[in-house]
Amino acid sequence: MRYLLSIFFLFSLSDASSAYELGKKLYMKNGCFSCHGRNLEGVHKYPYLANRAKGYMTYKLQRFRSKISDTQQQEMMIPFAVGLSDQDIENLTTYMYEFVEQESKEKYDDEYQTHGHGGS
Ligand code: HEC
Repeated sequence: MRYLLSIFFLFSLSDASSAYELGKKLYMKNGCFSCHGRNLEGVHKYPYLANRAKGYMTYKLQRFRSKISDTQQQEMMIPFAVGLSDQDIENLTTYMYEFVEQESKEKYDDEYQTHGHGGS
């Protein structure tokens, strides 16, 4: 039973992390970080995005994608949203919602483990 549970746990983890990883890639590739920050922390007038409600972020991205903006400042988002598919938005909002700041450190640790280690 414990065995089954841990399998299930691993499964749900890898599932979540793949949308997360895809979202992260898009976030970097599409240049979102240049305004919203590498840690989704926001810069000046650009809002932070980390751990914000997924439904609301989805709604906003879909609106920007449809070229709807409420303020002149929001117009800036339109060119970055028009090319996004529904799947892209799903991955991006998963990344934003689940964002963990120490992620690069965790990665480093993972890599360390795959190389094995001598007695710690
Ligand atoms: C050129 C700068 C810039 C880039 C690049 C950019 N954004 Fe934005 N983003 C903005 C601005 C400006 C707003 C609107 C802020 C406001 O409402 O006043 C915004 C708003 C948002 C919002 C809504 C946040 C809220 O509080 O309503 C989301 C979600 C978002 N951006 C995601 C993204 C994603 C995902 C990308 C990459 C595909 C991206 N942004 C790229 C400038 C940028």
